[in-house]
Amino acid sequence: MKEINLLPDNLLKMPSIKLVQSWYVQSFQEIVDFKDKNAEHPDTVQKFADTVITIRNRHNDVIPTMAQGVVEYKDSFGVDPVTSQNVQYFLDRFYMSRISIRMLLNQHTLLFGGKVKVNPAHPKHIGSIDPVCNVVDVVKDGYENAKHLCDLYYMSSPEIELTEFNAESPGQPIQVVYVPSHLYHMVFELFKNAMRATMEFHADKGVYPPIKVNVVLGSEDLTVKLSDRGGGVPLRKIDRLFNYMYSTAPLPRIETSRATPLAGFGYGLPISRLYAKYFQGDLKLYSLEGYGTDAVIYIKALSTESVERLPVYNKSAWKHYKTSHEADDWCVPSSEPKDMTTFRSN
Ligand SMILES: Nc1ncnc2c1ncn2[C@@H]1O[C@H](COP(=O)(O)OP(=O)(O)OP(=O)(O)O)[C@@H](O)[C@H]1O
Ligand SMILES: [Mg+2]
Repeated sequence: MKEINLLPDNLLKMPSIKLVQSWYVQSFQEIVDFKDKNAEHPDTVQKFADTVITIRNRHNDVIPTMAQGVVEYKDSFGVDPVTSQNVQYFLDRFYMSRISIRMLLNQHTLLFGGKVKVNPAHPKHIGSIDPVCNVVDVVKDGYENAKHLCDLYYMSSPEIELTEFNAESPGQPIQVVYVPSHLYHMVFELFKNAMRATMEFHADKGVYPPIKVNVVLGSEDLTVKLSDRGGGVPLRKIDRLFNYMYSTAPLPRIETSRATPLAGFGYGLPISRLYAKYFQGDLKLYSLEGYGTDAVIYIKALSTESVERLPVYNKSAWKHYKTSHEADDWCVPSSEPKDMTTFRSN
């Protein structure tokens, strides 16, 4: 809530950003009301659980609403590198703390909310955490659901070729202490992207190369790699795919090739990367332009390493918003020194 005020004034004036801010103010007040209540009292416990649910629902649409705010800003002021950099820095931190807060809210309702403490479908889960999360099962689940969307839109879909390699215990299934919904989110987004690229790139041939998936467990990393042959993305554009300001398009996308159920408002990659980073992992794209893309999810193999990664609000953070952007210190063949006031958008 403090950091949001460091955003550029013109952005803060956008109606959608104000709406999101008002949700945070209201939720904060509702939580603070419990400060002096007796946590032992069953009535308080119940009321608190109800409040937690109300808050979680109030914030369901934070991401599309913030995205809408960015669209409103772009419509009025266009895109400039300083704002784009601030928005990128802010939204990565803002959505990361949102992932963490929602994880806590969920964990609280699952463990203290209802009468039933154990989820009958997943008796081993501790709230939303699966101590023996079977990675291949989650990958297959993500594939099937993306395939369903792909079949609906393209009447066909690429096959999956999955290889599992457990270097720690050869032959054993790969398991990890993880939040399956986070892993599912990442693979589902990557499958949707890989399928759309494959279907579009091979549209005229009618034969679709499979998506190859490797799930590998080493001593430090658990890696999931999706390799598609969807034609790839040039290196120059890779960073941009993770940029909130570049990629935001109003929902739903109406441009013809965009209006597929496989592509929304362009936050699939940046949000998935946050899920990976949240437990000290990462998500990267390596493309061979003209051929295809490898999308790689890195997860810490050891649960002791999978600790929350959270932004802190301090002077260094403040500086990020306040530093002025000077001329680039590398020469650019076309204009020298690089003029930071113009920003190429294609
Ligand atoms: N495997 C891929 N092959 C080729 N292009 C890709 C691939 N993955 C992503 N892209 C490109 O990156 C863009 C951004 O991907 P991202 O998932 O962030 O958003 P989106 O798919 O457009 O919308 P959504 O929010 O629904 O995911 C895509 O629109 C696509 O142009
Ligand atoms: Mg996507």
